[in-house]
Amino acid sequence: MGNSNEETLTLPTGKTIKIQTGLFIDNEFVESVDGKRFVTIDPSTEGVITTVAEASSKDVDLAVEAATKAFSNVWCHIDGKERGKLLNKLADLMERNLDDLAALETLDNGKAFSITKTIDLPEAIRCYRYFAGWCDKVHGKVIETQNDKFCYTRNEPLGVCGAIVPWNFPISLMANKIAPALACGNTVILKTAEQTPLSSLKVAELCKEAGFPKGVINVLSGFGSTGTVMANHMKIDMITFTGSTEVGKSIQKAAAESNLKRVLLELGGKSPSIIFADSNLDTAVKFTFNGSFFNHGQFCVAATRIYVEEHVYDEFLKKFKTDAEAIKIGNPFESKIYQGPQISRKQFDRIMSYIKTGKEEGATLLMGGERHGERGFYIKPTIFTDVIENMTIMQDEIFGPVTCIAKFKTIDEVIEKANLTKYGLAAAVFTNNIIKAVKLSKEIKAGTVWVNQYMEGDSSLPFGGYKQSGIGREMGKYALREHTQVKTVQINLETNCN
Ligand code: NAI
Ligand code: MG
Repeated sequence: MGNSNEETLTLPTGKTIKIQTGLFIDNEFVESVDGKRFVTIDPSTEGVITTVAEASSKDVDLAVEAATKAFSNVWCHIDGKERGKLLNKLADLMERNLDDLAALETLDNGKAFSITKTIDLPEAIRCYRYFAGWCDKVHGKVIETQNDKFCYTRNEPLGVCGAIVPWNFPISLMANKIAPALACGNTVILKTAEQTPLSSLKVAELCKEAGFPKGVINVLSGFGSTGTVMANHMKIDMITFTGSTEVGKSIQKAAAESNLKRVLLELGGKSPSIIFADSNLDTAVKFTFNGSFFNHGQFCVAATRIYVEEHVYDEFLKKFKTDAEAIKIGNPFESKIYQGPQISRKQFDRIMSYIKTGKEEGATLLMGGERHGERGFYIKPTIFTDVIENMTIMQDEIFGPVTCIAKFKTIDEVIEKANLTKYGLAAAVFTNNIIKAVKLSKEIKAGTVWVNQYMEGDSSLPFGGYKQSGIGREMGKYALREHTQVKTVQINLETNCN
């Protein structure tokens, strides 16, 4: 197909970037079988950036065919060291193209360029390098049973892994999904979010340049319907998904009703942040502030329920509000901007409707609660106080720059309140008392607990949810278990067995 679907995009800075807008199947950018395309929007202007090809079930079939062939004929015969070299090469190429990748992410998603460049991209690159290191270290065990038996296990890849990602961290979630899958010897089909197809298409170009054999990595742009086809597909062996709990459940159901494919689900959250009077209050403010408003509140571990011990509540609130008032909102390509627009009209309306419900249910709107500017999906940083656990805004994932701050008196009270949601993704505790820190880390039902910090992550640390926040663990050594299956081999060593 050559360059038939190449577009030249002009950034608000005047710079131009060439991008392939087709589906990336078998190392080629192709139009969809039906020729369908859809638009992707710049959320800071609400204007159209460009169109990309839309994958239907026919295109999913083509990608599955390519990924299946690549798995059986090539990828599972390539040894780990070679797989590691390719992942490192991809990381090198991403480093070399850092500015373009960061700019595409900012254009399509609306997050600040300064942040994309210094946080999202470096994180993605670190993730490819981290899993590159594991490629030649995925192995089984020899297990002693009886003297005349030789038994061992092999950790084998699953086959074709389908990855379905959301729009909040397109480039880093692509890395979190495909790096461990490839490291373990699987081939992948990535479906990007309909709101943010562009940066992953650029990474696909770099995968080809890095030398990944054809069919090993396939990238499809499409809507939820494309994801549904993947979840139901009989020849996809695993779905790894990040997104809403509702869609996660539908994927698990589809997996059960089709070929019993494995699922790894990283879903929503409503994470508590607990601040004790004995903590360093400035540290607590700094981390919970970023925990609430980073990425415009559009992240699964957002600190959306902040509990402050009553005698430091007023002081905390004053400092937190002062920081929130200083947030610079605006064009994400301008320097010093912290908050850009929300991702879409749908998310903007959804967040505004939660704000309305919060007011109706009796919470106090301390600040924000309204749109910023005339154009683009901007919402002012919003703080609710006088909140109680049964309010909608204390239960639902809002996924916007909206946080709730409550008071507490005792440890037992705050533990009980912290656990009063269907989610269990993350939590934070701020205290200088190690006994309290350890007690709360044990009692809070969450996949990650931060103490005196928020949102720190590392490719080597397992990440995932308790309760309805997900199934399985991404990242670290734990991701290897998720992306492999164990084979037991038993050999009879009796001399007369032939
Ligand atoms: P979503 O869960 O609908 O979308 C995430 C991805 O799943 C996208 O690629 C989408 O195309 C795909 N998808 C949608 N329906 C599908 C289906 N039935 N089968 C397979 N794939 C499907 O999330 P959406 O609508 O973008 O956001 C809604 C809410 O979900 C947010 O307000 C937030 O609460 C939550 N969310 C959580 C995320 C997280 O990081 N845990 C990320 C994005 C959204
Ligand atoms: Mg977009």
